Amino acid sequence: MSTFKAPKGTYDLLPPDSAQFLAVREAIAAPLRNSGYGYIETPGFENVELFARGVGESTDIVTKEMYVFETKGGDRLALRPETTAPVLRAVLEANLHKAGNLPVKVWYSGSQYRYERPQKGRYRHFSQVGAEAIGAEDPALDAELIILADQSYRALGLQNFRILLNSLGDKECRPVYRAALQDFLRGLDLDEETLRRAEINPLRVLDDKRPEVQKQLTDAPLLRDYLCDACKTYHEEVRELITAAGVVFEDDPKLVRGLDYYTRTTFEFVHDGLGSQSAVGGGGRYDGLSEMIGGPSLPSVGWALGVDRTVLALEAEGIELDIPSATSVFAVPLGEEARRVLFSKVTELRKNGVAADFSYGGKGLKAAMKAANRSGARYALVLGERDLAEGVVQLKDMESGEQTAIGVNEIVAELESRLG
Ligand code: HAM
Repeated sequence: MSTFKAPKGTYDLLPPDSAQFLAVREAIAAPLRNSGYGYIETPGFENVELFARGVGESTDIVTKEMYVFETKGGDRLALRPETTAPVLRAVLEANLHKAGNLPVKVWYSGSQYRYERPQKGRYRHFSQVGAEAIGAEDPALDAELIILADQSYRALGLQNFRILLNSLGDKECRPVYRAALQDFLRGLDLDEETLRRAEINPLRVLDDKRPEVQKQLTDAPLLRDYLCDACKTYHEEVRELITAAGVVFEDDPKLVRGLDYYTRTTFEFVHDGLGSQSAVGGGGRYDGLSEMIGGPSLPSVGWALGVDRTVLALEAEGIELDIPSATSVFAVPLGEEARRVLFSKVTELRKNGVAADFSYGGKGLKAAMKAANRSGARYALVLGERDLAEGVVQLKDMESGEQTAIGVNEIVAELESRLG
């Protein structure tokens, strides 16, 4: 072991388990690619103000969880705790919204950093695949995103997840609700910090997990009863569209999210096998975010699914993804000359698109065949001195154990035909 360990709250993705992560990312991305979303990649860090303004000054993410640092040049940057604000920043910076083709639909995949108290499913470095549809107010767009997330989870074989749906209203109706909720909260028996939170961000109090707080919230006013007509109609349409698509969801009038930019549609994907860190994904509409970071009005909607927690959800359901072995052919040279000949054949196979690996380090036959087994290869090629003299190589079918001698010059054609 080295002197160093992965920092607290982080872990390494190692083969063979890392293949599950890649497959999960791929499964989430595939429906997006298929639905007009283009790939976007933004830096791992941004100006700290982008998150302060975008995610919200009073959120846990901004006040407690950001990794903030100052560069030698004096810039105040933060490792990204989320990627919605960065994506919008990038779209505005590149004027993609002016290209006359709204919404701008993009997807991303990458690391996020939050200084949280680590526990199973909650890490300081984690990975999300996300999608953002920027610059259109259309319930079909909200529905599309929810349907696509549902589709990717179904494609992975997940069953024990639920979709919670709510509307957080807009700048017309939310302030009225906010005031009513504040009035209600002021009358409760709450500690200093929670009362302070009620003044700054009363909706967050609804999300307080402590039973003594939850008990007092039973009669709290619900945003549902304060929605303006426009928000009500919008929400009803989203509900109808996803219902028509066969997506099952639950109305959760108390669902609030940990980020301040949300308006109208909000949703969370929760998995029932994960204990307290049950949110595997979440998202919603953020119609005011562009203006909050200095852009024009660009109503938008998006989500991010947590890759780490999705992998845990698969484990909880006992799902092993069927990941085909990366290696089709494993080459075993016995001796110097055999190594030279076989290595060039492996290079040729690879050039022809056949996934091939090689026994390195001059291993003997037994150890090399063990490595061939471990690689999951369908065929092994064994080249010994006598074979070499005869211009042949032993082709072993690793499933049936059957072995045939084929000409060294036939290797590529023979394997291509056998592997289809
Ligand atoms: P979020 O709910 O903060 O939303 O994160 C989305 C998902 O990331 C969570 O549901 C969870 O699966 C995963 N996640 C969050 N924190 C952690 C952690 N500490 N460890 C492991 N996984 C975690 C957002 O980030 C928004 N940007 C989503 C969005 C996109 N809204 C609109 N567009």
